[in-house]
Amino acid sequence: MKNAVRRIGVLTSGGDAPGMNAAIRSVVRTAIYRGIECVGIRRGWNGLIHGDILKMNASSVNHIISSGGTMLYTARSQEFMTEAGQLQAVNTCRLLGLDGIVAIGGDGTFRGCQALSQYGISVVGVPATIDNDIACTDYTLGYDTASNTAVEAIDKLRDTMQSHERCSVVEVMGRNAGHLALYVGLAVGATAVLVPEKPLDFENDVVEKIRISRLRDKTHYVIVVAEGAASAMEIGQRIKDTIALDPRVTVLGHIQRGGTPSARDRVMATRMGYQAVEVLAEGHTNRLICAVRGVLEDVDMAEGLAMKKTLSEQQYRVLEAMTGV
Ligand code: F6P
Repeated sequence: MKNAVRRIGVLTSGGDAPGMNAAIRSVVRTAIYRGIECVGIRRGWNGLIHGDILKMNASSVNHIISSGGTMLYTARSQEFMTEAGQLQAVNTCRLLGLDGIVAIGGDGTFRGCQALSQYGISVVGVPATIDNDIACTDYTLGYDTASNTAVEAIDKLRDTMQSHERCSVVEVMGRNAGHLALYVGLAVGATAVLVPEKPLDFENDVVEKIRISRLRDKTHYVIVVAEGAASAMEIGQRIKDTIALDPRVTVLGHIQRGGTPSARDRVMATRMGYQAVEVLAEGHTNRLICAVRGVLEDVDMAEGLAMKKTLSEQQYRVLEAMTGV
């Protein structure tokens, strides 16, 4: 017979993402709804090591569904990568009587979950990163809001680039993946998009795209560069050195991580948080919540993390068509 789950903890770890607060709210409310106590663990895995705990009730999560960031703070914990740190975290779990942890974050967060589960603590992960780079899920929280933030910024840049007949080189986040850049590039009608998944051929991928665009009577250009593909500064300099343009470079940076979560992020966060508690309450562990073709599922964490996410070839072909004539 399964042991009843009486008390769980929730934490956010790694880079923050819009929708994390909505996910915390959902975990807390679902737990209470199911008669499970829930405590907040602040500052990611560091909080579990040092017992940085916040008591939660249904009203602790009032009014956070619409705010960016995370009310529990977040961190990338070096200490948790050590055995001593992990043992201390396990000790905190035992002292607090935690039957399980819902960890909201990305790849690094889930590696932390795996470490903790080796000591018999039940863990469930909720994917939240603006990079959308977790292979087993079509969607990670924050991706939609970050895309919209980048699109809004680039639309503004376009106005001034159009007026001055200039070239804009914009660097977007994404770490080693180009999902965000490709999606944003499609949304803004970019002249060219550089992603790490495609080896850079400057002549073909940049110079030729600008030439094609010029033939279409365009006098301003937007080049979207994924941070994992190249540095926007370098691309801007190469454009200047190669053709008669004087590009302006913008690195969007952390602005992409903030802001009011979109409706999609709020709803996905609420659904995923709910599902995470359900999975823990059913007595499962080492599971990752995933969205697969719109349906929420949970997969084995090790299997999910072993998968490799590839760039959407369909989206890339569409981009080739849009930038190729
Ligand atoms: O993983 C999210 C992310 O924003 C990446 O896109 C980016 O490379 C990284 O985090 C930046 O991390 P930091 O907050 O440590 O600067």
